[in-house]
Amino acid sequence: MSKPDHVRLFIPGPVEVSKDILEAQTEWLVGHRSQEFFDLFASVQAKLRKIYKTRHRVYATAGSGTNFWEGAVLNGVRNPHPILHLDNGIFGERWSKVSRANGKKVEVIKADFGKVIRPEQVAEKLKEKHYDAVAMVYNETSTGMLNPAPEIAEIVRGYPDTFFFVDVVSAICGAPVETDAWGIDVCVASPQKAIGLPPGMGMAAVSDRVLERAKEIEYRGWAYDFLQLESWMVKNSTPATPPVPMFFAADKALGQILEQGLDARVARHAELAQMTRDWAVAQGFGLFAEAPYFSPTVTVIENEPGPGIQYGELDAFLRAHGFVIANGYGPMKQRTFRIAHMGDEQHKYLQEVLDLIAEFMKGKK
Ligand SMILES: Cc1ncc(COP(=O)(O)O)c(C=O)c1O
Repeated sequence: MSKPDHVRLFIPGPVEVSKDILEAQTEWLVGHRSQEFFDLFASVQAKLRKIYKTRHRVYATAGSGTNFWEGAVLNGVRNPHPILHLDNGIFGERWSKVSRANGKKVEVIKADFGKVIRPEQVAEKLKEKHYDAVAMVYNETSTGMLNPAPEIAEIVRGYPDTFFFVDVVSAICGAPVETDAWGIDVCVASPQKAIGLPPGMGMAAVSDRVLERAKEIEYRGWAYDFLQLESWMVKNSTPATPPVPMFFAADKALGQILEQGLDARVARHAELAQMTRDWAVAQGFGLFAEAPYFSPTVTVIENEPGPGIQYGELDAFLRAHGFVIANGYGPMKQRTFRIAHMGDEQHKYLQEVLDLIAEFMKGKK
């Protein structure tokens, strides 16, 4: 087994980032009002549009995905019209709290964590009354579930005045994402997941019609006011100081992703996820998410009921061998643990982690 020079991250963000991408952040800085930055910004923008599959703009600026949850709601939901949130995991739930915290009228379709919200449930709600937006998390990182976004998109497209907000934070570049084809109006992502970048940037693809509606809304905040972001985007910059080192890294990482091919990257994620699930089942574990909605980027494994391993001991064992996985999230903390397999992760290292967990379990028998 290789001797570790650092602890390799198998957690669902931030993920392991390759050395060349980390080093891209150490380029000499440039000012964000300089031609050098404008060129860098334009290059990143062109690549982001390709990974998002959108002809619209993709705002990218300091912050994280959470900031663009807030941006979506502040720029696209007009009081007193409600927003409909789909909540079947921690992040779906949290986004609804963010909408409430921003003074919006929130309604929720709730399912138990790990259970699917069916498109028909959304259809029934939309028939009842007008919603300014439907918001959902595509890949729910807390439960290891890939929610049926394309099917729900089809329902929402039947309501032309209802926007579709989708969180693809732990999906983009690891699962198929079709921003324009699915009719997503605000598509929120973070770099520190399947894109394989360090954290520090928030990203969102935003449709033209959101900008039109934003003009009707008086209080849109400032930092993530889309009209403000747009006014600077057309000049290839951002209203406030962006994380310039991140832009260097993003330019490089996105270039590599496009060179390798998005489809190949998505296929690799599917293989790693299948490998993890097959291993888990063979070891006597259950899978937390409802079949067949398994995430291609993170597998949430049921420890109780199941082998009931001591997570703290496993964590110490894995760290000593140069790896770290994640325990369960929120209420799933005791019951589950999570193995992320996203970004530039490869079969070889994943196999090492799985073998180590099996070895740990054998030692406990
Ligand atoms: C599905 C999902 N949405 C949103 C977030 C929050 O993203 P950020 O931490 O980049 O704000 C996370 C973080 O793990 C996530 O997994």
